[in-house]
Amino acid sequence: MSIAKENAAQAALEFVQDGMVLGLGSGSTAEIFIEKLGDQVAGGLKVTAIPTSQRTAQCAIEAGITLLDPDRVDHIDLTIDGADEVDQVFQLIKGGGACLLREKIVAQASRKMVVIVDDRKMVETLGTFPLPVEVDPFCLGVTAQQVYDALMATGCEDGQTVLRQMKDGSGPLVTDGGHYILDCRCRRIPDPVATARALAMIPGVMETGLFIDLASTIIVGEVDHAKVLEI
Ligand code: A5P
Repeated sequence: MSIAKENAAQAALEFVQDGMVLGLGSGSTAEIFIEKLGDQVAGGLKVTAIPTSQRTAQCAIEAGITLLDPDRVDHIDLTIDGADEVDQVFQLIKGGGACLLREKIVAQASRKMVVIVDDRKMVETLGTFPLPVEVDPFCLGVTAQQVYDALMATGCEDGQTVLRQMKDGSGPLVTDGGHYILDCRCRRIPDPVATARALAMIPGVMETGLFIDLASTIIVGEVDHAKVLEI
């Protein structure tokens, strides 16, 4: 377990209050947080939660955290999630774990989003990490071409897309929502707002890994402490 991720996850516990409805993110850093939250729950903290993936739901159940039916939730107080890249104004790339659609639904519905990362995720400009774009499998070639065009039109250095595959080689990865992921080798996304808008116009695009104006706090874990950055 990375000590930097652990320090970030530990610091995020400070934002959790008794009675809160929490959004639980996905990925290795979020899972460290869920484990720590489980310890607090065992100690008497009362929270309920919405998971952003089937895997997160499983982790939360194992940690003893009460999950709510997403269809019946009327508010979410706080979402804690990881990220693949964070820029200077807290715009994010997420979706390395293929959970971006549900992560964004939960983040956008939350009163506050706190992102927990290790210091390697902080960047000047987004785009070194390939941008995940969740797409409907129908007319995939058409959608992939439109995604390429949108990336190039908004100033990305490259627009090459790669259909994400299962690790065992059994075919394309299918998300919890039944979609595919195109990983876009942008290299540099100079205007994340314009790129997110252009991609959102494409009918075959279900959601993009660009999280614009959603995070208000970034906790950056380092080897011996965690820095809390507020926008
Ligand atoms: C899941 O789809 C992602 O958005 C993760 O939050 C992101 O990839 C960060 O994952 P790690 O915490 O494993 O680096």
